[in-house]
Amino acid sequence: MTDVLDLEAVLSVSNTDVDEVIHTVADHADAIFTWDYEKGARPQLNKLYEKAKHSQWNGETDLPWDTEVDLEAQAQLQVDTFRAFTESYDLKGSPFERWGDKEWATLNIESANWTLSQFMHGEQGALICTAKIVETVPWIDAKYYAATQVMDEARHVEVFAKYLDTKLSGYYPVNAHLKLLLDDIVEDSRWDITYLGMQIMVEGLALAAFGFLHALTTEPLLKQLLRYVMSDEARHVAFGVLSLKEYYEGLSDAEMFERQQFAYEASLRMRDRFLQQEVWDRMGVNPKEALQLVVQDPGRVMFQQILFAKIVPNCKKLGLLDRNDQWLRRRFEEMGVIQFEDWIDTSDEYETLQIEGLEQLRSGELRADAS
Ligand SMILES: [Fe+2]
Ligand SMILES: [Fe+2]
Repeated sequence: MTDVLDLEAVLSVSNTDVDEVIHTVADHADAIFTWDYEKGARPQLNKLYEKAKHSQWNGETDLPWDTEVDLEAQAQLQVDTFRAFTESYDLKGSPFERWGDKEWATLNIESANWTLSQFMHGEQGALICTAKIVETVPWIDAKYYAATQVMDEARHVEVFAKYLDTKLSGYYPVNAHLKLLLDDIVEDSRWDITYLGMQIMVEGLALAAFGFLHALTTEPLLKQLLRYVMSDEARHVAFGVLSLKEYYEGLSDAEMFERQQFAYEASLRMRDRFLQQEVWDRMGVNPKEALQLVVQDPGRVMFQQILFAKIVPNCKKLGLLDRNDQWLRRRFEEMGVIQFEDWIDTSDEYETLQIEGLEQLRSGELRADAS
């Protein structure tokens, strides 16, 4: 569990340039051409590419944007959950001592603004990382597939931005810890680290987080939006697993150890540092005092573990858990997330997450166009 010292370290890093519009990151990788155009040399990547071509949707026209979203009513619905949490703690002397339903409802609204904003920023990270993969991966089947993912990620940034603009009540700049993680992934010169950082770790976590929110929300537009995004994300994570499996089988122990350490460091950062510190500032509450209570919430601890439901089985499939005397397995045991190792890995799961009826919808449109 995060202790007070860790909290100080987390809070000591904050986004100091919240008005920044352009952020430049050095990309140290070589752009790779291949003259080997044999399509389907990697059949699973080829299959994923064909699937992706049929699974495109249009963020403007396929989602019910005319849905009325009553933020106040949504927030009020969740106030009972907070009350149950707060009743199990002694809030005397805490920033929440005098909070009533109104403050808890505002917190819910700000929390949604923050979460959707970070999803949007993370999606832009995926957009940039995948454009980089198009340049750096040496295989034509992977370049083809990555090109479809670039389009997917543009659509994801677009729909989260539109949801924030038209349905929520405010926007947050990128969280400093998320920004640092994305910078580290983009800066790395090794092509597989883009995949490991983005497709396996960040998108693995996002797929679990979207699934959690999808199950929880009663707002029909957001529910459908998340469901559509998840169907794409499952393909993206599968792309990471299918590409790296082949490559990692050929790496030495020393090279694998670097990847194991990278995966562990990213896990810790995502688990311990992605706190809604900016929300407390906006609510006029001292973030440290608030977070000391928040990190004790048993629901939060459970949520943090569930975020690893995709990452752990995918790391296992890549051989990352058990190489070098089970080094990463031991770390995941310490983190309390090893229980997910035999959950379905995403290279098998993506087909079950496809949107039913999407292909019919598309072919229906094609027929309409043709007539
Ligand atoms: Fe995405
Ligand atoms: Fe993605």
